[in-house]
Amino acid sequence: MPYHGDTFGAMALGERNIFNESFEKLMFPVKRVPWPSTWIGDEDVEKKEKVSIEKLCELLKQPTVAVIAEPILQGAGGMNMVRPAFIKKVSELVSNHNSLLIADEVMTGFGRTGSLFAFQQAKIEPDLIAISKGLTSGFLPMGITLSKDKIFQSFVSDSPEKTFWHGHSFTANPLGCAAANASLDLLENEPNKYLKFEEKHLFLINKLNHLPFVKKVRICGTIIAFDLEIGANSGYLNTIGKKIKKLAIEKGLFIRPLGNVIYLLPPLCITDNQLEISYEIIHDILLTL
Ligand SMILES: Cc1ncc(COP(=O)(O)O)c(C=O)c1O
Repeated sequence: MPYHGDTFGAMALGERNIFNESFEKLMFPVKRVPWPSTWIGDEDVEKKEKVSIEKLCELLKQPTVAVIAEPILQGAGGMNMVRPAFIKKVSELVSNHNSLLIADEVMTGFGRTGSLFAFQQAKIEPDLIAISKGLTSGFLPMGITLSKDKIFQSFVSDSPEKTFWHGHSFTANPLGCAAANASLDLLENEPNKYLKFEEKHLFLINKLNHLPFVKKVRICGTIIAFDLEIGANSGYLNTIGKKIKKLAIEKGLFIRPLGNVIYLLPPLCITDNQLEISYEIIHDILLTL
């Protein structure tokens, strides 16, 4: 379930659901490829990837301007992870068909997935990359679209017709830039804050994964997620997440489940002890369900 934002173009690209159905008529049509979500112990991953790749091949027979994906991890849509090899295959196909690959790293960028950017794990070079949230560590609002030089150069000209006439009131806001620079310095100086983070989750998840309703445990860098198979419907509208969020806040842990998907996406400054306490709090709550 992709999510790329709430402006019309971004909304059109994302999953059509209750959050945007009122705008359905205003959104442009988009072709979709199933996302082969996987988790620890998933035995069907290859089958799912094959289905997705076949669908992509079929769609790319039509001239296609661009393909967009959140590399490795779909965030708001349910913390759904895919294998880097799948993203690599997607990238190869897109490039072979002279289409552009857009990597939406708004959520995955800046160490979140265990590498500076998620696309690096797939060893690919997207044509365009969207970055934001972690750019300033969420401290001030700032977003950047990065492009390969050949795309950038197509807007460089003395002719005003070539100019990319789009900007925002706060484009290159000086305070935002200063916050981004400070945050980038921290990231550069302390890569250990995100490198090998997976090992911590792999160790701590043993506290939880024996519980019968904890399913589809998945880990990617600093992020761990699992589904709670409780209640009738799975998905964003399952109310279990709200209940768990309230109980967690009472115990001093701020989490924001996506329906029945519980996840931890800790700030990179979290200490090992704080992470362990986070798991303990979730464990204690789950025991009461
Ligand atoms: C992957 C992804 N892309 C895009 C966006 C939208 O970013 P913005 O709110 O800056 O438009 C988000 C926000 O959550 C996101 O997670």
